[in-house]
Amino acid sequence: MKQIINNSISIKNINHSFGDHQVLKNVSLDIDSGEFFSLLGPSGCGKTTLLRIIGGFLLPNEGLVYLGNKDTTTIPANDRPTNTVFQKYALFPNLTVYENIAFSFRVKGIKDSEFYDKIMSYIELGRLQAHVDKYPSQLSGGQQQRVAIMRALANEPKVLLLDEPLSALDAKLRQHMLLELDRIHDEVGITFILVTHDQEEALSVSDRIAVMNEGEILQIGTPVELYETPATAFVADFIGENNFVSGIVTKILDEDHALIDTSLGDLIVELDKKVKVGNRVTLTVRPEKIEVLKNKPSLPNEWHNLIKGTVYDVIYSGFQSKYFLEVRGHTSYIKAFEQHDIFFEDGTEVVHWGDEAWYLWDADDSYIVEVFDE
Ligand SMILES: Nc1ncnc2c1ncn2[C@@H]1O[C@H](COP(=O)(O)OP(=O)(O)OP(=O)(O)O)[C@@H](O)[C@H]1O
Ligand SMILES: [Mg+2]
Repeated sequence: MKQIINNSISIKNINHSFGDHQVLKNVSLDIDSGEFFSLLGPSGCGKTTLLRIIGGFLLPNEGLVYLGNKDTTTIPANDRPTNTVFQKYALFPNLTVYENIAFSFRVKGIKDSEFYDKIMSYIELGRLQAHVDKYPSQLSGGQQQRVAIMRALANEPKVLLLDEPLSALDAKLRQHMLLELDRIHDEVGITFILVTHDQEEALSVSDRIAVMNEGEILQIGTPVELYETPATAFVADFIGENNFVSGIVTKILDEDHALIDTSLGDLIVELDKKVKVGNRVTLTVRPEKIEVLKNKPSLPNEWHNLIKGTVYDVIYSGFQSKYFLEVRGHTSYIKAFEQHDIFFEDGTEVVHWGDEAWYLWDADDSYIVEVFDE
């Protein structure tokens, strides 16, 4: 195939159905050369299907896939400059680590002397020097995973596609492998596309993430953008933890703020969506943005929200405690997370179960994620 001048990917208006089930709905996406990009979404939302289309394992009903400047939509997987690591990494059980990584070179009839150094450099990159002559059954899950990734990289693809490569590993090993993936990405500098349903995994390694649900891309952004300014209620809920409060816009305070009448009382929100007085809306505030106080504080300025309630549950979870506040006679509740280092006084928590408490947060930490009656 023709020379590709960079490792970027452009997906244009992909639609795909299996039978009468539309699995991808008008998906468009641009991934930069060298980016670590993740496709994040719940099980069944179409991530693997999209990855198979990018890798050339599936021809979409409609739409185009560009690699660099070239339309590769109809080019089969073997002829694309992409390589895929599947969830079930399918190493050859009867081949050693070296032989697994060297497999594609030997199949092409290339002599060992011509690729030995290259294979050894990938063995080093995957920190597999101590395991060169072992068989897959003699390796841990994380080591097998590294062999699978090195085997894919040894073909020197321009884009590495990774479909939930860490899901078979336990939490600690997954953390370790994520750091390894990040390091390998930095060292080889090619484009990585990681498919995952684990938001923490995506947040911790990605340059940018596309959040998918039911075959659609809901938002594309950096981890910070998705966490701090989710565009929809689904994204606000899927990434991290959140409080959702519904209400009615009663006043536009200035071009950035509005007053919302909610079951928790009047709340001020930052406006990043157009709303009118009378709109029904859903707003959010992240639990860790809320301060839990035993005594009524004086407001730092007018752009704050302060509500009073009764703590009906406190969950201790190691480095932090989670406080659930009941407001206005059991009709609404809101959760706040406090780290212990700022919350212990003489070894005792200031606010206890059953106490009355105040919740204070910056108005700019509340966003509208849904507008009804537009
Ligand atoms: N070959 C196929 N034939 C029929 N339906 C399919 C096929 N492959 C996938 N599907 C359906 O398409 C939808 C999306 O599947 P896909 O494998 O892309 O989801 P996913 O986001 O990767 O999910 P998971 O996180 O569980 O791997 C699912 O409803 C699935 O049942
Ligand atoms: Mg999948």
